[in-house]
Amino acid sequence: MSKMPETTMADLSLADKTAVRKSSVIARRFSDVSTCSFSSACFTGTSEEDDVSPKDVKQVNTRGSNDFCVKNIGKAGFGRREIAIAEQEMPGIMALRKRAADDKPLLNAKIVGCTHINAQTAVLIETLMQMGASIRWASCNIFSTQNAVAAALAEAGVPIFAWRGETEEEFWWCLDKCIHSEGWQPNLILDDGGDATHLMLKKYPEYFKSIKGIVEESLTGVHRLYQMSKAGKLTVPAINVNDSVTKNKFDTYYTARDSILDSLKRTTDIMFGGKQVVVCGYGDVGKGCAEALRGQGCIVYITEVDPICALQAAMNGFRVVRLAEVIRTVDVVVSATGNKHVVTRDHMNRMKNGCILCNMGHAISEIDVSSLHTPEMTWQHVRSQVDHIIWPDGKMIILLAEGRLVNLSCSTVSSFVVSVASSTQALALIELFSSPGRYKSDVYLLPKKMDEYVAGLHLSSFDAKLTELTTAQSKFLGLNKAGPFKANYYR
Ligand SMILES: NC(=O)c1ccc[n+]([C@@H]2O[C@H](COP(=O)([O-])OP(=O)(O)OC[C@H]3O[C@@H](n4cnc5c(N)ncnc54)[C@H](O)[C@@H]3O)[C@@H](O)[C@H]2O)c1
Repeated sequence: MSKMPETTMADLSLADKTAVRKSSVIARRFSDVSTCSFSSACFTGTSEEDDVSPKDVKQVNTRGSNDFCVKNIGKAGFGRREIAIAEQEMPGIMALRKRAADDKPLLNAKIVGCTHINAQTAVLIETLMQMGASIRWASCNIFSTQNAVAAALAEAGVPIFAWRGETEEEFWWCLDKCIHSEGWQPNLILDDGGDATHLMLKKYPEYFKSIKGIVEESLTGVHRLYQMSKAGKLTVPAINVNDSVTKNKFDTYYTARDSILDSLKRTTDIMFGGKQVVVCGYGDVGKGCAEALRGQGCIVYITEVDPICALQAAMNGFRVVRLAEVIRTVDVVVSATGNKHVVTRDHMNRMKNGCILCNMGHAISEIDVSSLHTPEMTWQHVRSQVDHIIWPDGKMIILLAEGRLVNLSCSTVSSFVVSVASSTQALALIELFSSPGRYKSDVYLLPKKMDEYVAGLHLSSFDAKLTELTTAQSKFLGLNKAGPFKANYYR
């Protein structure tokens, strides 16, 4: 769990502030708890870090409001265009926006949001506002904010507190500004990593009296909620959207499938055809990576510990091997297990010259990168997120994103996939806000019917037409014609 800062920046000299900013950025990079939601993070452009904190700069939007803190309000025009592109590719959330515009199901909702801030999240934020909510928003990750988008939101009057490259101290300051504001008290939380919930519990526990519920997007945040619930400390209902079907079936698999090729291409300019690739782990992420790479003509090997997933891989036509068997010959290694030390120093010692190594899983220790920091090894920075690691005999491997999630560090996440996740989040917020008393102080999954509704919202963009059950068929299956079509446990 992240710690609250103990020293305030006001106590420090400018030189100290610079040092603290740099060390805090690094500290959070390695202890980051909020990278486990993959629905909305994206990497566009380079970091605009410098030594002047936006916190120390006075900015006003063209409406005269200064209730925000972003890198540069002057970039709002660019951000607005980014949002317009995302809107085109997010049919579900845009349909929801249209349908809910008259009903205003979130009228009088006051939402504290703490998620990645990029063009896709902006579409969600503006949808929630059009549904009647008033919101205050901070970023859940110090590196993922698209500054121009944050500026566009600030210009549109959204109280937003976020910029790319925040320090740990700035991160908590931004979140505090969202939670605590004169004359405004939140009644809903949309969290990605649990930090907004955590800070409110620590600093403003009395606010929980008016909180109607928490919607949590990430694995880590959900884990924290279950722990709180078990300890009897959860005083409001929470919806776990991380485990909703739409997240597992769409977000994880399709995100991996779409972004692995882009990540490798952007960083290494690789041609895929005929390359030998090993994907470690054949869960949803591994499946997505393996399919995409095979589709480009790669020869793909899979490693697995679970016989069921191994059988799936084998029956899908992949060779299931041990890493040690293929490590000398493969051109690319992709880890996707969520486990630690899957790729060890011993494996790396045996890789061939020029082998590309990257990780798609959450754990930064999935590739044992720390074992490469020994005196005989040379690290050569090539381009953003690309390092050559050189052995004393001249052998070199190419390490991407220092072993962190390669797609979140080097690529973008498809807006369409985020649309599915955002629609789920919006519906979960509506559900908690409009159903007082229906939920106790516990953690719930989104009802299956809503998952189906979200999927249905996205079908029209494919001109897909659903088959309707006949009365006899619905009786035969014991289902309502309008759904839900699967049991709640179905994943
Ligand atoms: N990069 C992204 O966009 C993205 C998206 C979603 C999830 N993730 C992360 O990716 C990781 C995998 O996610 P998932 O949903 O596929 O999980 P999963 O549990 O479905 O799949 C992981 C697979 O790895 C296998 N495995 C575990 N240890 C192994 C080992 N030592 N060698 C070989 N196989 C091993 C497991 O048996 C399992 O089948 C997690 O850390 C998750 O948080 C990343």
